[in-house]
Amino acid sequence: MPVNYDTLAATIAALTHGETDEVALMATLACEIHHADDRFDWTGFYRVTSPGVLKIGPYQGGHGCLVIPFSRGVCGAAAREGRTQLVPDVEAFSDHIACSSSTRSELVIPVFARRGLIGVLDIDSNQPDAFTAEDATRLETILAAVFADL
Ligand code: SME
Repeated sequence: MPVNYDTLAATIAALTHGETDEVALMATLACEIHHADDRFDWTGFYRVTSPGVLKIGPYQGGHGCLVIPFSRGVCGAAAREGRTQLVPDVEAFSDHIACSSSTRSELVIPVFARRGLIGVLDIDSNQPDAFTAEDATRLETILAAVFADL
């Protein structure tokens, strides 16, 4: 079933109200987003844990790579550029890091708090060209509502 973003945003707002712990928030979002849409086969966060380094955070799905430098992969590009990366075909993205061989397309959105970039949200799909511009903008809005004022 395709996600209903109005319902998802309302559920996340209710569940996270008053919470300020980044890991608690990321865990809740990974769970809610992952189970909202059958296209999402891996959903999780990589956190900026030292300059130029992303480390695995809360996620749903099979195991993810533990460490991704800003210089590598789709997640690294999102962190480095501070911009959402929508990759319709991971095999055409030369620097894609294949944590799972079943992944066909990927959406990675940078996560900003007051102090700046705190991580990225990575969603992988086993379907080719699974993500739309609407997925990107609706998820960017949800992330801003949860993290921007932390
Ligand atoms: N494919 C990502 C790596 C993260 S995993 O797929 C969970 C990338 O190229 O950044």
